[in-house]
Amino acid sequence: MLVTAVATALLAQTALAWPHRPTGPQPWGYFTNNTIWQPPGNLTVSYPRYVELADGSILATTALSGVTPGYFPVFESKDGGASWAYVSNLTDQVNGWGMNAQPALEVLSTPLGGYPAGTILGSGNSWSENGTRIDLYASTDVARTWHFVSHIANGTAPNTTNGAHPIWEPRLLEYDGQLIAYYSDQRDPAHGQKLSHQVSTDLHNWGPVVNDVALSPYEARPGMTNIQYVPPINKWILVHETPIGNSSSYGSNYPVHYVMADTPLEFGLNPDIPLVVNNATAPNASPYIAWSPIGGEYGTILVSDADRTQVFTNQCGGDPNEWQLHATPAGAVYSRAIEIFKHRPDHLAIYGGNTYDQSAAGIQEPFSITVVNLNHVLASPAGVIPA
Ligand SMILES: *[C@@H]1O[C@H](CO)[C@@H](O)[C@H](O)[C@H]1NC(C)=O
Ligand SMILES: *[C@@H]1O[C@H](CO)[C@@H](O)[C@H](O)[C@H]1NC(C)=O
Ligand SMILES: *[C@@H]1O[C@H](CO)[C@@H](O)[C@H](O)[C@H]1NC(C)=O
Ligand SMILES: *[C@@H]1O[C@H](CO)[C@@H](O)[C@H](O)[C@H]1NC(C)=O
Ligand SMILES: *[C@@H]1O[C@H](CO)[C@@H](O)[C@H](O)[C@H]1NC(C)=O
Ligand SMILES: *[C@@H]1O[C@H](CO)[C@@H](O)[C@H](O)[C@H]1NC(C)=O
Ligand SMILES: *[C@@H]1O[C@H](CO)[C@@H](O)[C@H](O)[C@H]1NC(C)=O
Ligand SMILES: *[C@@H]1O[C@H](CO)[C@@H](O)[C@H](O)[C@H]1NC(C)=O
Repeated sequence: MLVTAVATALLAQTALAWPHRPTGPQPWGYFTNNTIWQPPGNLTVSYPRYVELADGSILATTALSGVTPGYFPVFESKDGGASWAYVSNLTDQVNGWGMNAQPALEVLSTPLGGYPAGTILGSGNSWSENGTRIDLYASTDVARTWHFVSHIANGTAPNTTNGAHPIWEPRLLEYDGQLIAYYSDQRDPAHGQKLSHQVSTDLHNWGPVVNDVALSPYEARPGMTNIQYVPPINKWILVHETPIGNSSSYGSNYPVHYVMADTPLEFGLNPDIPLVVNNATAPNASPYIAWSPIGGEYGTILVSDADRTQVFTNQCGGDPNEWQLHATPAGAVYSRAIEIFKHRPDHLAIYGGNTYDQSAAGIQEPFSITVVNLNHVLASPAGVIPA
C-alpha cells in the first residue's frame, strides 16, 4: 500500500511535469508490445532490424509485405524505445525493383571510405523476376536521407529451390577499419546454399567471396547470418539456421547452429555447433544474437528464433552444454531482432511484428518493441513470463 501511495504521488508529479505523457511507456523503462508503427492497409511487418548510435538513440526498420515496390520505413527513438518518430524510407534508387525484404543497418564508429563517424549504412534484398541484388546505401544525416554507395553482390531471381542462384539476407558489420557484408549465397554449384562474406576498405570496392559456413551434404542450406562479439572470451559468434532437406533435428526443421571465431573474418575455419538445450530443445529458424555483460563472469549470450516467445541464453561463454531457455513477455516474430542497450545492459529489447505464418495468413501485428529486465528473464524458467 505504501508503494502504491508513493507511486501515485510520483505519477501526479510526473503528470504535472510532462502533461503529454502521464501514463504509458516511460523513457528508458520496461514495457510490453509498445507500438512503433501500425502498418497501413494490408501491409505486414516482419524481419525487424535496428542500430544503436553512440548517443544511445535507436534507428529501427522492418521489411514490409504487400507493397510494390518494397521499401524499409525507418523510425527513431531517443528514449529507450518508449516513443518513436518516423524518419524516412530506405528505398532502392538504382535497380527499379524496390527494397523487398531483409533489411540491414549499421553505423560507422570511425571514418571509412570518405564517410564520417556516425554515418548510417543500410542494405537489403532488392529483387525482381530478373535478379536479387545487395547494394550499400549511406546516410550522413542520421537516416533522414539516403544515397546509393555501391553494389555488393547479385544473383538470379528469388527462388529457394536448390540449383537456383539467388542471394539473400545481408548483414553489415563494421570491423577494424573495414565493412563486412555477410549474406546467404545459392550461387556455388557445390552447395544448395552457403553463407558468404565480402569485405570493403573504402565502401566502394568489394573483395572476393569468402565462405563462412558451407556444409555437406549439398542439400544443407545454412542461412540468415547474424553476428555478435562476446568480450569476456574475445570471440565472435555467427548464428544461422540450418535446414537440410526435410530432416529435422530435436523437432526443428530449421535448427539453429553457431560458429565461434577469433575474428569475424575467420568463421570458415571453425566448427559449426548445433544450439540445443538439455539435449532436447532446439531453436528453429531466423536466429538473432545479442550479448549482455550481466549474468556472471561471461555475461549472457542471448539468441532468439522464429517460433518462440522465449530467448535462448548461455552464461558460460557459448559452451554447447550450457544453453538455457527463458520466458519473455514478447511475441514470436520471423527473424526477431533482440537488443541489449549499450549503456543499460539490463534492458533487453525485443522487436515485434508478424511470424512467417501470420504474414502468409494476412494477419497484421504492428511493428512494436518490448523492453524487459534481463535479470528477471534469467530468473524465470521457460514457462513463466517474467514480471
Ligand atoms: C493489398 O491491398 C492492395 C491495395 O488495396 C491490393 O492491390 C492488394 O491486392 C492487397 N494484397 C493482398 C495480399 O491482399
Ligand atoms: C514512404 O513510403 C510511403 C509508401 O510509398 C509513402 O506513403 C511515404 O510518403 C514515403 N515517405 C517519404 C518521406 O517519402
Ligand atoms: C526484366 O528484364 C526484361 C528483359 O530485359 C525486361 O523486359 C523486364 O522489364 C525486366 N523486369 C523488371 C522487373 O525489371
Ligand atoms: C550480376 O550482375 C552482372 C552485371 O550486371 C551480370 O552480368 C550478371 O549476370 C549478374 N549475375 C547474376 C547471377 O544475375
Ligand atoms: C527455381 O529453381 C529451380 C532449380 O533451378 C528451377 O527448376 C525452377 O524452375 C525455378 N523456379 C522458377 C519459378 O523459376
Ligand atoms: C520433402 O517433403 C515434401 C513434401 O512431403 C516432398 O514433396 C519432397 O520430395 C521432400 N524432399 C526431400 C528432399 O525429401
Ligand atoms: C541425448 O538424447 C538422445 C535421445 O534421447 C540420447 O540417445 C543421447 O544419449 C542423449 N545425449 C546426451 C549427451 O545426453
Ligand atoms: C504482446 O504481443 C504478443 C504477440 O501479439 C501477444 O502474444 C502477447 O499476449 C502480448 N502481450 C501483452 C501483455 O499484450
